Amino acid sequence: MTPVLNVEGLGKQFQLHEQQKLIPSCANISLQVHTGRLTALVGPTGAGKSSVLKCIYRTYLPSAGRMLYNDAQGNAIDLAQASEHRMLDLRRHEISFVTQFLHCLPRRSALDVVCEPLIARGTEREAAHMLAKALLSLLNVPERLWGVPPATFSGGERQRINLARGLITRPRLLLLDEPTASLDPATTERVIDLIQSIKSEGVAMLAIFHDPALVRRTADTVIELTPPLAITDILENCSS
Ligand SMILES: Nc1ncnc2c1ncn2[C@@H]1O[C@H](COP(=O)(O)OP(=O)(O)O)[C@@H](O)[C@H]1O
Ligand SMILES: [Mg+2]
Repeated sequence: MTPVLNVEGLGKQFQLHEQQKLIPSCANISLQVHTGRLTALVGPTGAGKSSVLKCIYRTYLPSAGRMLYNDAQGNAIDLAQASEHRMLDLRRHEISFVTQFLHCLPRRSALDVVCEPLIARGTEREAAHMLAKALLSLLNVPERLWGVPPATFSGGERQRINLARGLITRPRLLLLDEPTASLDPATTERVIDLIQSIKSEGVAMLAIFHDPALVRRTADTVIELTPPLAITDILENCSS
């Protein structure tokens, strides 16, 4: 079966101009993500797990490799080469990213923050609100917070809003970066149930979990990352 995403030899390095140094954040990563399956990325802090997700979502422009994404129409798109316009379109319609931190406008209510991706895809406001409320209840977000901007929320509350926002659209490909890191055990269980049900609906997932037990319970495939080799001097590279 054709994977939704096929990453081959992905690498990203950052150039520090003042110090003339190249800092690799991930190197030579290959992985596949399939419909209705979850691929987990594991490895120590600094191994490049978040960087891989950021490259796929194109928050970072990769330095090497291919990331073939098969879209809903059956086109194979290399996300490493895709135009900004194409990426924005894919983000709106097919690829979602639940990042570690919620970035949102200070004056929008939690309910609006959660609804936004669905409304952007053309869902009526009423229907979007209904779905958002159901998700917020499921994730144990107290009703008194729904009308309040998440800027003042605790870490765990924000993470729930972030998750609800990422899960509300049922994307074709879902990227999750430590989505349960600041949740209590009861809410974590609900998130796991949600992940299982989304899986059975056919969403392809690439996820990072801080807890190995979560990897064992949710992952169909595990990819282990090791930290890329230490800093390389550009000057040394040039002279050799
Ligand atoms: N924007 C950036 N600029 C410079 N270095 C970065 C940047 N993003 C990540 N890195 C470096 O890349 C390495 C891998 O980071 P990251 O992908 O966050 O790892 P992980 O998620 O596995 O902890 C780290 O050494 C980090 O400092
Ligand atoms: Mg990380």
